[in-house]
Amino acid sequence: MTTPLHETTLASKPSGDVLAIRGGRPLHGRVDVKGAKNLATKAMVATLLGETASTLRDVPDLSDVAVVRSLLEVHGVRVTEGDEPGALIFDPSDVESAHFEEIDAHAGASRIPILFCGPLLHRLGQAFIPDLGGCRIGDRPIDFHLDALRKFGATVEKLPSGIRLSTGGNRLHGAKIHLPYPSVGATEQVLLTAVRAEGTTELRNAAIEPEIMDLIAVLQKMGAIISYEPNRVILIEGVEKLRGYDHRSIFDRNEAASWASAALATDGEIFVGGAKQQEMLTFLNVFRKAGGWFDVREDGILFRRDGELTPVIVETDVHPGFMTDWQQPLVVALTQAHGRSVVHETVYENRMGFTGALIKMGADIVVHPHGLQDGPRRVPRRDLEQAAVITGPTPLHGADIVVPDLRGGYSHVIAALTATGESKVSGVDILSRGYEKFLDKLTALGADFDVIG
Ligand code: EPU
Repeated sequence: MTTPLHETTLASKPSGDVLAIRGGRPLHGRVDVKGAKNLATKAMVATLLGETASTLRDVPDLSDVAVVRSLLEVHGVRVTEGDEPGALIFDPSDVESAHFEEIDAHAGASRIPILFCGPLLHRLGQAFIPDLGGCRIGDRPIDFHLDALRKFGATVEKLPSGIRLSTGGNRLHGAKIHLPYPSVGATEQVLLTAVRAEGTTELRNAAIEPEIMDLIAVLQKMGAIISYEPNRVILIEGVEKLRGYDHRSIFDRNEAASWASAALATDGEIFVGGAKQQEMLTFLNVFRKAGGWFDVREDGILFRRDGELTPVIVETDVHPGFMTDWQQPLVVALTQAHGRSVVHETVYENRMGFTGALIKMGADIVVHPHGLQDGPRRVPRRDLEQAAVITGPTPLHGADIVVPDLRGGYSHVIAALTATGESKVSGVDILSRGYEKFLDKLTALGADFDVIG
Protein backbone atom coordinates (compact mmCIF):
# COMPACT_ATOMS: atom_id res chain seq x y z
CA MET A 1 0.00 0.00 0.00
CA THR A 2 1.32 3.47 -0.81
CA THR A 3 1.53 6.17 1.86
CA PRO A 4 -0.62 9.20 1.00
CA LEU A 5 1.59 12.16 0.24
CA HIS A 6 -0.18 14.50 2.63
CA GLU A 7 0.51 12.03 5.47
CA THR A 8 4.20 11.79 4.70
CA THR A 9 4.30 15.60 4.65
CA LEU A 10 3.09 15.70 8.21
CA ALA A 11 5.36 12.86 9.29
CA SER A 12 8.51 14.31 7.74
CA LYS A 13 7.97 17.93 8.74
CA PRO A 14 9.97 19.18 11.70
CA SER A 15 7.76 19.40 14.73
CA GLY A 16 9.29 22.81 15.34
CA ASP A 17 11.07 25.53 13.55
CA VAL A 18 14.30 25.74 15.55
CA LEU A 19 17.31 23.41 15.54
CA ALA A 20 20.21 23.15 17.96
CA ILE A 21 23.09 21.95 15.78
CA ARG A 22 26.41 20.70 17.11
CA GLY A 23 28.87 20.99 14.24
CA GLY A 24 32.36 19.86 13.38
CA ARG A 25 31.33 16.36 12.34
CA PRO A 26 31.60 15.43 8.61
CA LEU A 27 28.38 14.31 6.93
CA HIS A 28 28.60 10.73 5.68
CA GLY A 29 26.05 8.53 3.96
CA ARG A 30 23.37 8.46 1.29
CA VAL A 31 20.46 10.73 0.46
CA ASP A 32 18.04 10.26 -2.42
CA VAL A 33 16.63 13.10 -4.46
CA LYS A 34 13.22 12.83 -6.11
CA GLY A 35 11.48 14.90 -8.76
CA ALA A 36 12.50 18.54 -9.15
CA LYS A 37 10.36 21.07 -7.29
CA ASN A 38 10.80 23.39 -10.25
CA LEU A 39 9.37 20.85 -12.70
CA ALA A 40 6.81 18.95 -10.62
CA THR A 41 4.87 22.06 -9.61
CA LYS A 42 4.69 23.26 -13.25
CA ALA A 43 3.74 19.83 -14.59
CA MET A 44 0.93 19.81 -12.01
CA VAL A 45 -0.39 23.11 -13.39
CA ALA A 46 -0.25 21.62 -16.91
CA THR A 47 -2.79 18.96 -15.88
CA LEU A 48 -5.44 21.71 -16.09
CA LEU A 49 -4.92 21.82 -19.85
CA GLY A 50 -5.82 18.17 -20.48
CA GLU A 51 -9.23 16.66 -21.17
CA THR A 52 -8.26 13.44 -19.39
CA ALA A 53 -6.38 12.56 -16.20
CA SER A 54 -2.60 12.90 -15.89
CA THR A 55 -0.13 10.91 -13.77
CA LEU A 56 2.99 12.57 -12.43
CA ARG A 57 5.65 10.32 -10.87
CA ASP A 58 8.39 11.08 -8.34
CA VAL A 59 6.45 14.05 -7.00
CA PRO A 60 8.51 15.43 -4.11
CA ASP A 61 6.82 15.84 -0.74
CA LEU A 62 7.27 19.62 -0.40
CA SER A 63 5.16 22.51 0.81
CA ASP A 64 5.24 24.17 -2.64
CA VAL A 65 3.77 20.96 -4.08
CA ALA A 66 1.07 21.03 -1.39
CA VAL A 67 0.20 24.63 -2.35
CA VAL A 68 -0.20 23.77 -6.04
CA ARG A 69 -2.17 20.64 -5.17
CA SER A 70 -4.65 22.56 -3.05
CA LEU A 71 -4.99 25.31 -5.66
CA LEU A 72 -5.79 22.66 -8.26
CA GLU A 73 -8.34 21.09 -5.91
CA VAL A 74 -9.96 24.47 -5.28
CA HIS A 75 -10.46 24.68 -9.05
CA GLY A 76 -12.15 21.28 -9.20
CA VAL A 77 -9.19 19.02 -10.13
CA ARG A 78 -9.49 15.66 -8.34
CA VAL A 79 -6.09 14.57 -6.99
CA THR A 80 -5.57 10.96 -5.91
CA GLU A 81 -2.63 8.69 -5.11
CA GLY A 82 -1.11 6.84 -8.06
CA ASP A 83 0.08 3.26 -8.50
CA GLU A 84 3.48 3.76 -6.81
CA PRO A 85 4.84 5.89 -3.96
CA GLY A 86 5.27 9.50 -5.09
CA ALA A 87 2.81 9.19 -8.00
CA LEU A 88 -0.22 11.46 -8.13
CA ILE A 89 -3.18 11.38 -10.51
CA PHE A 90 -4.86 14.64 -11.51
CA ASP A 91 -8.35 14.47 -12.99
CA PRO A 92 -9.38 17.82 -14.53
CA SER A 93 -12.83 16.72 -15.85
CA ASP A 94 -14.70 19.04 -13.48
CA VAL A 95 -12.57 22.20 -13.54
CA GLU A 96 -14.55 25.15 -12.23
CA SER A 97 -14.11 28.75 -11.15
CA ALA A 98 -13.07 29.26 -7.56
CA HIS A 99 -13.93 32.04 -5.15
CA PHE A 100 -11.51 34.89 -4.68
CA GLU A 101 -11.09 34.18 -0.94
CA GLU A 102 -10.57 30.45 -1.49
CA ILE A 103 -7.80 31.02 -4.03
CA ASP A 104 -6.17 33.57 -1.77
CA ALA A 105 -6.30 31.21 1.20
CA HIS A 106 -4.65 28.36 -0.75
CA ALA A 107 -1.99 30.27 -2.69
CA GLY A 108 0.38 30.21 0.30
CA ALA A 109 3.87 31.63 0.17
CA SER A 110 4.53 30.42 -3.36
CA ARG A 111 5.24 31.98 -6.75
CA ILE A 112 3.72 29.13 -8.75
CA PRO A 113 0.09 30.45 -8.78
CA ILE A 114 1.04 32.95 -11.50
CA LEU A 115 1.37 29.96 -13.85
CA PHE A 116 -2.32 29.12 -13.46
CA CYS A 117 -3.18 32.12 -15.70
CA GLY A 118 -2.97 30.55 -19.17
CA PRO A 119 -4.54 27.18 -18.31
CA LEU A 120 -7.42 28.82 -16.40
CA LEU A 121 -8.02 31.31 -19.22
CA HIS A 122 -8.31 28.40 -21.66
CA ARG A 123 -10.57 26.37 -19.38
CA LEU A 124 -12.76 29.08 -17.85
CA GLY A 125 -12.16 32.29 -19.78
CA GLN A 126 -10.99 34.01 -16.59
CA ALA A 127 -8.47 33.73 -13.78
CA PHE A 128 -7.73 35.42 -10.47
CA ILE A 129 -4.20 35.36 -9.12
CA PRO A 130 -3.57 36.65 -5.59
CA ASP A 131 -0.48 38.60 -4.59
CA LEU A 132 2.47 36.24 -4.86
CA GLY A 133 4.78 34.93 -2.16
CA GLY A 134 8.05 33.09 -2.67
CA CYS A 135 11.51 33.61 -1.22
CA ARG A 136 12.51 37.20 -0.46
CA ILE A 137 15.45 37.33 -2.83
CA GLY A 138 14.61 40.48 -4.75
CA ASP A 139 11.72 42.33 -6.35
CA ARG A 140 10.58 39.30 -8.33
CA PRO A 141 8.20 41.25 -10.58
CA ILE A 142 5.73 39.56 -12.97
CA ASP A 143 5.85 42.12 -15.78
CA PHE A 144 7.14 39.59 -18.36
CA HIS A 145 4.24 37.28 -17.49
CA LEU A 146 1.58 39.96 -17.81
CA ASP A 147 3.03 41.43 -21.03
CA ALA A 148 3.02 37.95 -22.59
CA LEU A 149 -0.56 37.23 -21.48
CA ARG A 150 -1.72 40.52 -23.00
CA LYS A 151 -0.06 39.54 -26.28
CA PHE A 152 -2.10 36.32 -26.26
CA GLY A 153 -5.23 38.51 -26.08
CA ALA A 154 -5.98 38.42 -22.35
CA THR A 155 -7.07 41.53 -20.49
CA VAL A 156 -5.31 42.11 -17.20
CA GLU A 157 -6.86 44.08 -14.38
CA LYS A 158 -4.80 44.88 -11.31
CA LEU A 159 -6.74 44.78 -8.04
CA PRO A 160 -5.53 45.59 -4.52
CA SER A 161 -5.50 41.87 -3.65
CA GLY A 162 -4.11 40.45 -6.89
CA ILE A 163 -4.82 40.38 -10.63
CA ARG A 164 -7.89 39.40 -12.61
CA LEU A 165 -7.53 38.16 -16.17
CA SER A 166 -10.12 37.51 -18.82
CA THR A 167 -10.31 36.34 -22.43
CA GLY A 168 -13.40 38.50 -23.02
CA GLY A 169 -15.11 35.40 -24.43
CA ASN A 170 -12.55 34.91 -27.22
CA ARG A 171 -10.02 32.14 -27.75
CA LEU A 172 -6.47 33.28 -26.92
CA HIS A 173 -4.31 33.59 -30.03
CA GLY A 174 -0.66 32.86 -30.80
CA ALA A 175 1.84 35.70 -30.39
CA LYS A 176 5.37 36.82 -31.11
CA ILE A 177 7.07 37.31 -27.77
CA HIS A 178 10.60 38.44 -27.05
CA LEU A 179 11.45 38.19 -23.37
CA PRO A 180 13.69 40.99 -22.04
CA TYR A 181 15.52 38.28 -20.05
CA PRO A 182 15.38 34.46 -20.32
CA SER A 183 13.09 34.15 -17.30
CA VAL A 184 12.22 30.62 -16.24
CA GLY A 185 8.73 31.48 -15.03
CA ALA A 186 7.83 33.69 -18.01
CA THR A 187 8.99 30.97 -20.43
CA GLU A 188 6.76 28.48 -18.62
CA GLN A 189 3.90 30.98 -18.72
CA VAL A 190 4.24 31.28 -22.50
CA LEU A 191 4.45 27.49 -22.97
CA LEU A 192 1.41 26.78 -20.79
CA THR A 193 -0.61 29.44 -22.63
CA ALA A 194 0.57 28.97 -26.22
CA VAL A 195 -0.11 25.23 -26.43
CA ARG A 196 -3.87 25.79 -26.65
CA ALA A 197 -3.91 29.24 -28.24
CA GLU A 198 -5.09 29.63 -31.83
CA GLY A 199 -2.15 29.77 -34.24
CA THR A 200 1.60 29.77 -33.76
CA THR A 201 3.62 31.39 -30.99
CA GLU A 202 7.23 32.37 -31.46
CA LEU A 203 9.11 32.85 -28.19
CA ARG A 204 12.51 34.51 -28.35
CA ASN A 205 15.10 34.78 -25.58
CA ALA A 206 13.48 31.82 -23.83
CA ALA A 207 14.91 30.10 -20.77
CA ILE A 208 16.19 26.61 -21.62
CA GLU A 209 16.75 25.10 -18.17
CA PRO A 210 16.47 21.27 -18.07
CA GLU A 211 13.21 21.64 -16.09
CA ILE A 212 11.79 23.65 -19.00
CA MET A 213 12.83 20.96 -21.46
CA ASP A 214 11.07 18.45 -19.22
CA LEU A 215 7.93 20.61 -19.17
CA ILE A 216 8.07 20.68 -22.98
CA ALA A 217 8.25 16.86 -22.90
CA VAL A 218 5.18 16.77 -20.64
CA LEU A 219 3.26 19.08 -22.98
CA GLN A 220 4.29 17.07 -26.03
CA LYS A 221 2.92 13.91 -24.34
CA MET A 222 -0.36 15.85 -23.96
CA GLY A 223 -0.49 16.49 -27.71
CA ALA A 224 1.24 19.89 -27.93
CA ILE A 225 3.47 20.73 -30.90
CA ILE A 226 6.59 22.48 -29.68
CA SER A 227 9.96 22.80 -31.37
CA TYR A 228 13.06 24.75 -30.51
CA GLU A 229 15.76 26.38 -32.51
CA PRO A 230 19.26 27.53 -31.58
CA ASN A 231 19.60 30.87 -29.76
CA ARG A 232 16.74 30.43 -27.32
CA VAL A 233 13.86 30.36 -29.82
CA ILE A 234 10.84 28.16 -29.08
CA LEU A 235 7.99 27.66 -31.55
CA ILE A 236 4.60 26.45 -30.37
CA GLU A 237 1.78 25.49 -32.77
CA GLY A 238 -1.43 25.81 -30.78
CA VAL A 239 -3.90 22.93 -30.77
CA GLU A 240 -7.56 22.87 -29.74
CA LYS A 241 -7.43 19.98 -27.31
CA LEU A 242 -4.85 18.28 -25.13
CA ARG A 243 -5.04 14.97 -23.27
CA GLY A 244 -3.56 13.84 -19.95
CA TYR A 245 0.01 12.58 -19.58
CA ASP A 246 2.02 9.97 -17.70
CA HIS A 247 5.42 11.36 -16.78
CA ARG A 248 8.29 10.79 -14.37
CA SER A 249 9.76 14.11 -13.23
CA ILE A 250 13.36 15.05 -13.90
CA PHE A 251 15.47 14.80 -10.70
CA ASP A 252 16.05 17.81 -8.45
CA ARG A 253 19.47 19.06 -9.48
CA ASN A 254 19.27 21.95 -7.00
CA GLU A 255 18.91 19.55 -4.10
CA ALA A 256 21.68 17.33 -5.51
CA ALA A 257 24.06 20.30 -5.77
CA SER A 258 23.16 21.35 -2.20
CA TRP A 259 24.20 17.98 -0.75
CA ALA A 260 27.36 17.99 -2.88
CA SER A 261 28.37 21.32 -1.34
CA ALA A 262 27.49 19.98 2.12
CA ALA A 263 29.99 17.13 1.60
CA LEU A 264 32.58 19.70 0.51
CA ALA A 265 31.95 22.07 3.43
CA THR A 266 31.93 19.44 6.19
CA ASP A 267 34.73 17.34 4.64
CA GLY A 268 32.34 14.41 4.45
CA GLU A 269 31.26 11.96 1.75
CA ILE A 270 27.70 11.95 0.40
CA PHE A 271 26.18 9.69 -2.21
CA VAL A 272 23.24 11.46 -3.86
CA GLY A 273 20.92 8.78 -5.23
CA GLY A 274 19.01 9.88 -8.33
CA ALA A 275 21.53 12.62 -9.29
CA LYS A 276 22.56 12.62 -12.94
CA GLN A 277 25.61 14.10 -14.60
CA GLN A 278 24.15 15.67 -17.74
CA GLU A 279 21.99 18.28 -16.00
CA MET A 280 24.81 19.12 -13.54
CA LEU A 281 27.75 19.53 -15.92
CA THR A 282 28.34 23.17 -15.02
CA PHE A 283 28.06 22.52 -11.29
CA LEU A 284 30.44 19.54 -11.49
CA ASN A 285 33.11 21.64 -13.22
CA VAL A 286 33.03 24.25 -10.44
CA PHE A 287 32.83 21.56 -7.77
CA ARG A 288 36.00 19.96 -9.16
CA LYS A 289 37.84 23.28 -9.48
CA ALA A 290 37.00 24.03 -5.82
CA GLY A 291 38.74 20.80 -4.78
CA GLY A 292 35.81 18.40 -4.93
CA TRP A 293 35.93 14.79 -6.14
CA PHE A 294 32.95 12.98 -7.61
CA ASP A 295 32.15 9.60 -9.06
CA VAL A 296 29.22 9.32 -11.45
CA ARG A 297 27.46 6.00 -10.99
CA GLU A 298 24.46 4.29 -12.54
CA ASP A 299 22.10 5.31 -9.73
CA GLY A 300 23.60 8.58 -8.49
CA ILE A 301 26.76 10.57 -7.83
CA LEU A 302 29.23 10.28 -4.93
CA PHE A 303 30.70 13.57 -3.67
CA ARG A 304 33.65 14.33 -1.39
CA ARG A 305 36.75 16.49 -1.09
CA ASP A 306 39.92 15.79 -3.04
CA GLY A 307 42.45 17.21 -0.56
CA GLU A 308 42.58 20.91 0.24
CA LEU A 309 39.79 23.18 -1.05
CA THR A 310 40.86 25.79 -3.60
CA PRO A 311 39.29 29.19 -4.30
CA VAL A 312 37.11 29.72 -7.38
CA ILE A 313 35.55 32.59 -9.31
CA VAL A 314 31.93 31.91 -10.19
CA GLU A 315 29.20 33.96 -11.86
CA THR A 316 25.60 32.82 -11.58
CA ASP A 317 23.66 32.77 -14.83
CA VAL A 318 20.75 31.24 -16.69
CA HIS A 319 21.24 27.73 -18.09
CA PRO A 320 23.73 26.48 -19.19
CA GLY A 321 25.47 28.78 -16.71
CA PHE A 322 25.97 28.23 -12.99
CA MET A 323 22.53 28.34 -11.35
CA THR A 324 21.73 31.02 -8.80
CA ASP A 325 20.32 28.29 -6.52
CA TRP A 326 23.72 26.58 -6.35
CA GLN A 327 25.75 29.46 -4.98
CA GLN A 328 24.62 29.64 -1.34
CA PRO A 329 25.73 26.15 -0.16
CA LEU A 330 28.90 26.50 -2.25
CA VAL A 331 29.78 29.76 -0.45
CA VAL A 332 29.84 27.82 2.85
CA ALA A 333 32.40 25.40 1.39
CA LEU A 334 34.43 28.32 0.00
CA THR A 335 34.90 29.70 3.52
CA GLN A 336 37.14 26.63 3.96
CA ALA A 337 39.10 27.11 0.70
CA HIS A 338 42.70 28.31 0.81
CA GLY A 339 42.59 31.75 -0.81
CA ARG A 340 40.14 34.29 -2.15
CA SER A 341 36.97 33.24 -4.03
CA VAL A 342 34.50 35.50 -5.80
CA VAL A 343 30.84 34.61 -6.27
CA HIS A 344 29.01 37.01 -8.52
CA GLU A 345 25.21 36.89 -8.36
CA THR A 346 23.60 38.20 -11.55
CA VAL A 347 20.10 36.66 -11.56
CA TYR A 348 18.51 38.12 -8.40
CA GLU A 349 19.34 41.44 -6.80
CA ASN A 350 19.10 40.32 -3.19
CA ARG A 351 20.62 36.88 -2.89
CA MET A 352 23.66 37.56 -0.74
CA GLY A 353 21.84 38.40 2.51
CA PHE A 354 22.51 34.92 3.84
CA THR A 355 26.25 35.72 4.11
CA GLY A 356 25.56 37.89 7.20
CA ALA A 357 25.06 34.76 9.30
CA LEU A 358 28.26 33.18 7.95
CA ILE A 359 30.20 36.34 8.86
CA LYS A 360 28.73 36.13 12.37
CA MET A 361 30.07 32.57 12.53
CA GLY A 362 33.59 33.72 11.66
CA ALA A 363 33.68 33.74 7.84
CA ASP A 364 35.64 36.45 6.02
CA ILE A 365 33.12 37.59 3.38
CA VAL A 366 32.81 41.04 1.88
CA VAL A 367 29.66 41.68 -0.15
CA HIS A 368 29.85 44.27 -2.92
CA PRO A 369 26.20 45.29 -3.37
CA HIS A 370 26.67 46.45 -6.96
CA GLY A 371 29.02 43.74 -8.15
CA LEU A 372 32.62 44.15 -9.16
CA GLN A 373 32.34 44.72 -12.89
CA ASP A 374 32.33 48.02 -14.70
CA GLY A 375 30.61 48.49 -18.03
CA PRO A 376 27.12 47.67 -19.25
CA ARG A 377 24.95 45.32 -17.21
CA ARG A 378 23.71 42.10 -18.76
CA VAL A 379 20.18 42.99 -17.59
CA PRO A 380 20.06 46.71 -18.23
CA ARG A 381 16.63 47.43 -16.80
CA ARG A 382 17.80 46.97 -13.19
CA ASP A 383 21.09 46.99 -11.40
CA LEU A 384 21.05 43.37 -10.33
CA GLU A 385 24.56 42.37 -9.54
CA GLN A 386 26.14 41.64 -6.20
CA ALA A 387 29.44 39.94 -5.53
CA ALA A 388 30.75 38.15 -2.45
CA VAL A 389 34.49 37.96 -1.92
CA ILE A 390 35.23 35.04 0.37
CA THR A 391 38.67 34.68 1.94
CA GLY A 392 39.57 31.40 3.56
CA PRO A 393 40.10 29.20 5.28
CA THR A 394 38.38 30.57 8.38
CA PRO A 395 37.25 28.34 11.22
CA LEU A 396 33.49 28.75 11.79
CA HIS A 397 32.04 28.81 15.29
CA GLY A 398 28.47 28.20 16.43
CA ALA A 399 26.01 31.13 16.58
CA ASP A 400 22.31 31.94 16.83
CA ILE A 401 21.09 32.49 13.30
CA VAL A 402 17.78 32.96 11.50
CA VAL A 403 17.02 31.36 8.14
CA PRO A 404 16.26 34.01 5.49
CA ASP A 405 14.99 31.93 2.54
CA LEU A 406 15.13 28.44 1.05
CA ARG A 407 18.67 28.21 -0.35
CA GLY A 408 20.15 30.70 2.13
CA GLY A 409 18.56 28.65 4.90
CA TYR A 410 20.13 25.45 3.65
CA SER A 411 23.52 27.17 3.68
CA HIS A 412 22.95 28.27 7.29
CA VAL A 413 22.33 24.69 8.37
CA ILE A 414 25.44 23.49 6.51
CA ALA A 415 27.49 26.29 8.06
CA ALA A 416 26.28 25.23 11.52
CA LEU A 417 27.29 21.65 10.74
CA THR A 418 30.74 22.86 9.61
CA ALA A 419 31.25 25.07 12.68
CA THR A 420 32.66 24.00 16.01
CA GLY A 421 30.32 24.32 18.98
CA GLU A 422 26.55 24.66 19.03
CA SER A 423 24.36 26.84 16.81
CA LYS A 424 20.71 27.69 17.20
CA VAL A 425 19.13 27.90 13.75
CA SER A 426 15.62 29.37 13.65
CA GLY A 427 13.12 29.34 10.79
CA VAL A 428 14.14 25.96 9.32
CA ASP A 429 10.53 25.15 8.44
CA ILE A 430 11.00 27.09 5.20
CA LEU A 431 13.35 24.32 4.04
CA SER A 432 10.31 22.09 3.51
CA ARG A 433 9.62 24.22 0.41
CA GLY A 434 12.56 22.64 -1.40
CA TYR A 435 14.12 19.79 0.59
CA GLU A 436 12.01 16.69 1.07
CA LYS A 437 12.35 15.02 4.49
CA PHE A 438 15.20 17.36 5.29
CA LEU A 439 15.64 16.42 8.94
CA ASP A 440 15.46 12.69 8.15
CA LYS A 441 18.22 13.19 5.61
CA LEU A 442 20.40 15.10 8.08
CA THR A 443 19.94 12.26 10.57
CA ALA A 444 20.85 9.67 7.91
CA LEU A 445 24.07 11.59 7.26
CA GLY A 446 25.05 11.54 10.94
CA ALA A 447 24.33 15.20 11.75
CA ASP A 448 24.21 15.96 15.48
CA PHE A 449 21.13 18.12 16.16
CA ASP A 450 17.95 18.44 18.19
CA VAL A 451 14.66 20.05 17.27
CA ILE A 452 14.20 22.53 20.11
CA GLY A 453 11.36 24.74 18.99
N1 EPU B 1 11.96 38.76 -13.75
C1 EPU B 1 11.40 39.98 -14.06
N2 EPU B 1 10.10 40.02 -14.51
C2 EPU B 1 9.35 38.88 -14.63
C3 EPU B 1 9.92 37.64 -14.33
C4 EPU B 1 11.24 37.60 -13.88
O1 EPU B 1 12.05 41.02 -13.95
O2 EPU B 1 8.17 38.99 -15.02
C5 EPU B 1 13.35 38.73 -13.26
C6 EPU B 1 13.41 38.21 -11.81
O3 EPU B 1 13.13 39.24 -10.88
C7 EPU B 1 14.84 37.71 -11.72
C8 EPU B 1 15.09 37.16 -13.13
O4 EPU B 1 14.11 37.77 -13.99
O5 EPU B 1 15.71 38.77 -11.47
C9 EPU B 1 14.98 35.66 -13.24
O6 EPU B 1 13.72 35.19 -12.74
P1 EPU B 1 12.99 33.88 -13.27
O7 EPU B 1 11.67 34.26 -13.82
O8 EPU B 1 13.93 33.14 -14.16
O9 EPU B 1 12.80 33.05 -11.94
P2 EPU B 1 11.49 32.33 -11.40
O10 EPU B 1 10.79 31.63 -12.50
O11 EPU B 1 10.72 33.26 -10.53
C10 EPU B 1 12.66 30.03 -10.99
C11 EPU B 1 12.85 29.14 -9.81
C12 EPU B 1 13.87 29.74 -8.87
C13 EPU B 1 15.18 29.90 -9.62
C14 EPU B 1 14.95 30.76 -10.87
C15 EPU B 1 16.20 30.88 -11.73
C16 EPU B 1 10.68 28.13 -9.58
C17 EPU B 1 9.44 28.00 -8.78
N3 EPU B 1 11.57 28.99 -9.13
O12 EPU B 1 12.17 31.26 -10.46
O13 EPU B 1 14.05 28.82 -7.83
O14 EPU B 1 16.12 30.52 -8.79
O15 EPU B 1 13.90 30.18 -11.68
O16 EPU B 1 16.59 29.63 -12.19
O17 EPU B 1 10.86 27.46 -10.59
C18 EPU B 1 14.44 28.10 -5.66
O18 EPU B 1 14.21 26.94 -6.09
O19 EPU B 1 14.90 28.34 -4.52
C19 EPU B 1 14.18 29.22 -6.54
C20 EPU B 1 14.15 30.48 -6.12
